Amino acid sequence: MHDNHARTARIAGLGTFLPEKVLTNKDFEAMIETTDEWIVTRTGMRERHVVSSGESVATVAVEAGKRALADAGVDPEEVELLIVATATPEQPIPATAALIQPLLGVRRAVCFDLSAACSGFLYGLKVARQFFITGEVSTAMVIGAETLSRYTDYTDRATCVLFGDGAGAAVLKAAPAGEGILRVAWHTDGTCADFIQMPGGGSKYPPNVKEHIDQRLPFIKMRGNETFKVAVRSLTDVCFEVLEQAGVSIDEVALFVPHQANQRILSAVGDRLGLPAEKIYVNLEKVGNTSAASIPLALRDALDEGRLQRGDLMLSAAFGGGLTWAAALVRW
Ligand code: UT7
Repeated sequence: MHDNHARTARIAGLGTFLPEKVLTNKDFEAMIETTDEWIVTRTGMRERHVVSSGESVATVAVEAGKRALADAGVDPEEVELLIVATATPEQPIPATAALIQPLLGVRRAVCFDLSAACSGFLYGLKVARQFFITGEVSTAMVIGAETLSRYTDYTDRATCVLFGDGAGAAVLKAAPAGEGILRVAWHTDGTCADFIQMPGGGSKYPPNVKEHIDQRLPFIKMRGNETFKVAVRSLTDVCFEVLEQAGVSIDEVALFVPHQANQRILSAVGDRLGLPAEKIYVNLEKVGNTSAASIPLALRDALDEGRLQRGDLMLSAAFGGGLTWAAALVRW
């Protein structure tokens, strides 16, 4: 069962970038009251990459973007639309996507940022795909890029062990309906906006006021335990929703490539979906939670490991601040 349209988009190329600097669980043992054992058993994480001075969300996004263009064999001048999904933009004005446009050489592209936290990459695929459906665009790029370390409170042990930096970029080309991105289901619930948030740094508590910094407002805050429960339920529901929309069963899915928030979340969702562990792709032990960059980073690794073959059905899902959540079904 397909939508009643003639074309969609396919992922024609994927590129990723991780900054060189690594923070290990051992490093956290020296910084806060925690243990490698607690972090591994409660999250599954062992390492995360973080930017150094001189790096920023634009530098990681550009590197991932260049690699995606090379992987797709696409000339930057062909790109008509560039969406950068990020919760940690380069600066408030202009958009990160506009700032990196000349660095990627995508001079014909309309460029804007998309704010949907960890669901940003899948929201980006959904938005871009609509322009393929209407026929307005034939080549697009969606980049998920984050420098969460710049807003991580390294005195808050409940959040600081989770987050990492990085970027992943996808080049999208037109494909006949029934191939490529088959469906994307998406949701928002703003009543739980305080589950994951950075209260400072915007219009309410601007970053140019010293008290806001003293009150540690421009830092990421999370109600971890409550978020965990909603994440498991929402991710499960949205996966079943996208499968139903596309008229396929979970047994037909070759690989599930979820947002990498916590190993225990992924296992709980896998159980509820009836997916065996070998069909769930996990790389969070190496990268932590990289928000909008998480899914393209995982997808690139899965491809490099030969976990997805042409024609395979790939399911992806994400959950994050907003709250936002989404799932995509892709015929590889
Ligand atoms: O990407 C967006 C979506 N994000 C998520 O979905 C994240 C969802 N949440 C989580 O992954 C988990 O809630 C966490 C990993 C953040 C926390 O795990 P938890 O099992 O929910 O722990 P908790 O917050 O209930 O805390 C349990 C205990 C507390 O101690 P007490 O109060 O029981 O004495 C915490 O203080 O663990 C303590 N704790 C730690 N202990 C050692 C919290 N962080 C740490 C730590 N090391 N780093």
